[in-house]
Amino acid sequence: MFVLWRTPAGSMPWVGAVIDSDKGVLVGDFVLDVPRNLHRSWHVNKEDWIRSAKAAHSLLCDVAGCTDLSEKSVLDYGCGSKLTKLFLENDLPIRRYVGIDTMKELIDFLQPSIHDERFSYHHVNLYNELYNREGIPLTDLDSLPLAGEQFDVICLFSVFTHLAPHDYKPLLKLLRPHASPDCRLVYSAFLDELSASGHGFMDKWGPLIVDKIEATPDSVSPDFCDFFPERSLEVAIYARSYALDLLEGTGWRIEEIRDPSPDIQHVFVCVPE
Ligand SMILES: C[S@@+](CC[C@H](N)C(=O)[O-])C[C@H]1O[C@@H](n2cnc3c(N)ncnc32)[C@H](O)[C@@H]1O
Repeated sequence: MFVLWRTPAGSMPWVGAVIDSDKGVLVGDFVLDVPRNLHRSWHVNKEDWIRSAKAAHSLLCDVAGCTDLSEKSVLDYGCGSKLTKLFLENDLPIRRYVGIDTMKELIDFLQPSIHDERFSYHHVNLYNELYNREGIPLTDLDSLPLAGEQFDVICLFSVFTHLAPHDYKPLLKLLRPHASPDCRLVYSAFLDELSASGHGFMDKWGPLIVDKIEATPDSVSPDFCDFFPERSLEVAIYARSYALDLLEGTGWRIEEIRDPSPDIQHVFVCVPE
């Protein structure tokens, strides 16, 4: 029997699952239909979005050195909904998953929709020029609402890609207390360089940047470029050397920077110092 129910979050969100009518338990085919207004991704269609979730999942397994995450706890900062959907709809193993986001409506949708105690969600009302202009400055937050929990993997997909330079170090410092001793911190970022893979933002847009710099000389520095200043932080591009400098004194040490792939930009992998 397939059942649909409406979540307390209201308007559109519906959650569905296949129920074993004899035992009354979930037997699979869980569906998390995330309302379109709660999406904040560039993906042109659902297939691309799911493919990026699968790529993110493979990357997490890879950096954690496992074939699956059954033994791993994951903190997904700036979580959106794609990893939740992927894990639960496909019954992918994970020991623990915590998602944090500035988007209150998203957290208010996810928290009551997911009836799996391994999964939990927290809202942080932090200012971001692109996503949350009502929030408080990141530098005003002393700690994350995680009750000191530590994680094997901390990931941020498409978060530093929209992060202002003044938030870069403070965010890394906020995350540091939540690293287990063997933790891997994984985040994607736009780097101001061409890549061997050819999948980076600058591989596509680089040829146009010269015109752009001439057009907007004040908004471009050698180290950081808000590529579309009229849509602040939609594309935050860092010079590799600057991005590495910003790691100094945060308690993290870079392990590697991976080349962009079709689904993920440059990937920074760090370990606790
Ligand atoms: C481009 S979306 C990516 C979502 C998800 N990680 C993914 O890959 O689909 C960026 C997310 O980061 C969140 N975000 C932006 N700045 C944040 C901050 N300072 N703290 C927490 N979340 C933030 C946004 O609300 C948004 O959900």
